[in-house]
Amino acid sequence: MDAQAKKTALRGITYGLYVIGTKVGDDVNAFTGNWVTQASFTPPLVAIGVKKDTTSFEGIRDSKVFSVNVLESGQKDLAFAFFKPVSRVGNKFGDVEFYTSTTGSPILRDALSWFECQVTDVIDRGDHALILGEVIDAGVHREGQPLTLAETGLFYGG
Ligand SMILES: Cc1cc2nc3c(=O)[nH]c(=O)nc-3n(C[C@H](O)[C@H](O)[C@H](O)COP(=O)(O)O)c2cc1C
Repeated sequence: MDAQAKKTALRGITYGLYVIGTKVGDDVNAFTGNWVTQASFTPPLVAIGVKKDTTSFEGIRDSKVFSVNVLESGQKDLAFAFFKPVSRVGNKFGDVEFYTSTTGSPILRDALSWFECQVTDVIDRGDHALILGEVIDAGVHREGQPLTLAETGLFYGG
């Protein structure tokens, strides 16, 4: 296989950019990721790709729940805040406020909308695990255009 062609072609997949939250023991954690897609209508399933050597992966695997926060176009700073591990203090990650709903996974107050999943399958094949979750709760804070990976100028894929 032509490695450069593989990279270019895979980078042709278009993405949004989301803050994915989970529970880690009694605590919560969140990271920014773009490997997110709906995978079924009935039941409503969502697939995410999660790096295996991260706190978030351990949390999702063990708690079997995660949240996906849909960011708004222009909320690059919010996305950038979760590319590195972030400590939680009370109901905040730094300046970023969150609350919890059905699963206990963090929901960002400033996100456009959110949904929470119960993990149904963990497929462990590569450096990231493919995690399938059934959507069991959702909410909308306001209408707006979702943030895309292209808008940030970043790539994660190839
Ligand atoms: C543009 C971009 C997109 C990313 N997308 C993902 C992703 O889809 N899945 C993932 O596991 N990590 C992704 N990451 C890496 C995580 O944000 C990073 O590993 C994070 O520190 C994990 O947090 P944690 O260590 O607190 O769990 C991405 C990083 C960047 C810069």
